[in-house]
Amino acid sequence: MTKLPSIGQPVSRLEGREKVTGTAKYAGEYDATDLLYGYVVNSSITKGKIKSIDTSEAEALPGVVDIITHKNRPSTAWFDFQYADMDAPPGTVFKPLKDDEIKYNGQPIALVVAETFEMARFAVTKIKVRYETEDFNTDLEANAAKAREPKKGLASMLKPPPPKPTGDFDEAYESSFVKTDSKFRHGTEHHNPMEMFATTVLYGGKGKLKIYDKTQGTINSQMYVANVFGLKMKNVQVIAPFVGGGFGSGLRPQYQLFMAVMASLKLKRNVRVTLDRTQMYTFGHRPPTLQHTKFGADENGRLNAIYHKAVGETSQFEDYVEVVVNWANMLYPAENTLLEHEVVPLDVYSPLDMRAPGGSTGMHAIEVTMDEIAYKLGIDPLELRLINYSEIDKSSDKEYSSKQLRACYLEGAKKFGWEKRNPEPRSMKRGNKLVGYGMATGIWDANRILGRAQAIMTPDGKVEIKSAVTDIGTGTKTIMTQIASDELGLPIDHITFSYADSKMPFAPIQGGSFTTATVGPAVKAACHALNKKLFKKVKNSEDSLLKQLKFKEVVFKDGYIISKENPEAKVSRKEIMASNEGKSIKTTNSAMPNPLTYGKKARAVHSAVFVEVEVDQELGIIEVKRAVTAVAAGKIINPKTAESQILGGMVWGISKTLHEETLLDHRFGKYMNPNLAEYHIPVHADIHDLNVLFIEENDDFVNDLGVKGVGEIGVVGMPPAIANAIFHATGKRINDLPIHFDRLL
Ligand code: MOS
Repeated sequence: MTKLPSIGQPVSRLEGREKVTGTAKYAGEYDATDLLYGYVVNSSITKGKIKSIDTSEAEALPGVVDIITHKNRPSTAWFDFQYADMDAPPGTVFKPLKDDEIKYNGQPIALVVAETFEMARFAVTKIKVRYETEDFNTDLEANAAKAREPKKGLASMLKPPPPKPTGDFDEAYESSFVKTDSKFRHGTEHHNPMEMFATTVLYGGKGKLKIYDKTQGTINSQMYVANVFGLKMKNVQVIAPFVGGGFGSGLRPQYQLFMAVMASLKLKRNVRVTLDRTQMYTFGHRPPTLQHTKFGADENGRLNAIYHKAVGETSQFEDYVEVVVNWANMLYPAENTLLEHEVVPLDVYSPLDMRAPGGSTGMHAIEVTMDEIAYKLGIDPLELRLINYSEIDKSSDKEYSSKQLRACYLEGAKKFGWEKRNPEPRSMKRGNKLVGYGMATGIWDANRILGRAQAIMTPDGKVEIKSAVTDIGTGTKTIMTQIASDELGLPIDHITFSYADSKMPFAPIQGGSFTTATVGPAVKAACHALNKKLFKKVKNSEDSLLKQLKFKEVVFKDGYIISKENPEAKVSRKEIMASNEGKSIKTTNSAMPNPLTYGKKARAVHSAVFVEVEVDQELGIIEVKRAVTAVAAGKIINPKTAESQILGGMVWGISKTLHEETLLDHRFGKYMNPNLAEYHIPVHADIHDLNVLFIEENDDFVNDLGVKGVGEIGVVGMPPAIANAIFHATGKRINDLPIHFDRLL
């Protein structure tokens, strides 16, 4: 593709071919000389102490090189040093193999290192562990009375606590014309990216390590390794060019990274540690959550009182929080609000951000409650949203930088055919199936933080852009190339975006839907600075046609610097590079929000979701037959990859509402379905007609690309839209997710 502008074009993933042909290499696939394989031993008890670990039989097996436990682990910097990774909640980061204490079921307690993966895995079966067990609590509902406010920490910057109460909720609620009072329960979910967590460490000697890691942040992993093991940052290189799905699971350095580095440093060898699917249920999850909403509205449907409380699970060592209850007042301008979020520490591993953490939980409760109000008043659910439409974020009294939610509602409804809906529950049928239409709003933050990028023009006139950012399958490589293309005035095949290497310029973890808004402007800034350097070279050369011009009087187009006034006066980048004595031209630049102005406006991405379900009258089977998501997310850099993000989110929304749950047996403190046979996710047969509509939205405040991020919004509105459609089809309100068909019988 050569035509410009590149932004706005549905460019296919530039690395797509490598992925589908199997040539893309993932962290657990890098080969190395005399590579050793590690397999982790996990605790079979939930709480207590390790009395003894007998490894003698395992050690005697051929090919077993070492077995590392808390008894013989190397003394690394870790054990007397407090360290928090970029996504660490307030508290104390879990330290594998620190001592004999067991804090949760599945906790890593030893690493077997062998010459083959198979032998390492087999040797684990020969290890005899004796424990002293203690009583534990893993049941959120049974321990709900222990809920308390979470500790505050650095993480609260992107995860603000609930706003302070406003007005007088109790009085306003009591005097409301219509009142709701509803409880919601969400089950535990585990991230299940296709790629298993794996780390391959290449031991370079003299404390130098080259690490292939499954991660959503190369610099996050680099900082972790350097800090934990007392190594110099420059001696630790973390690379993750391909990531087979993240969804939040890679926002924190996971224990296979610790294990692989520990073994490599101890044995001075190349080591790989891979976790299996079951082990991927031992390091973080979307927490089970209890919610309570009480909304009050007047006879016209205008919301006057909002109470929303969430109680989520956390571990005994960190206070995991997510933003569950803040959203209602960001959308609906009630004057009287009471919003609370509490946590219950339990004997589990710390929960971990999972796609739209908090938002996909809270908006389910909020938007189902809105549907209840619509039914109590006989107002169309869509009309109710429009009655309560606000141009400002009432929770902060700030104007939105942009908000095209109204157009999402209207255009989404039109595309879906909302007007064909008969509001009466159980009134629409197709054969023996009850048909239901439901709708809901989605909202997610539009954030950005600091990002850096380097632009290098090589003597052949081509450009390489570098940033440490990962591409977790979202299309980051492709869209960064498109952004560079437009700024440089070069077709995308003249640009290479190199990434996911901690030696490259800084990028934060890839999450929170802030990657494009964070790294995109840095790429743009670096390309802009490169243009300036090129222009300076032109000005400095004697015979230049552009000598008299200022930077703002030229454009960069089709590989030329051209005078705006006189298009005949132009110089090609190749000519400039030819006179540069075979040297490259390079620049590294940062981009970040302006701290003085950034907080002055509310910033969010919005969606309107419309869903049709069919519910089998005899069998209760629920199918999402159709869904339309209309999204206003600022500038869409690449409609193809952006649509894929929303579609993926919608599929997850179906999964979260109808399929996924990790079940914990509280007698054992153990997840009972940690595998893809029993942890239900949708298959192709569960997914029907999904449609995405991007609503045009111009925003010159959020960043100079006007992008807001599409990674998470796709999932947010789906659960309530599906739940509302199920109510419309069946007349039953099921507020516990996932909704399984037996609940409808
Ligand atoms: Mo996302 S849960 O911020 O990877």
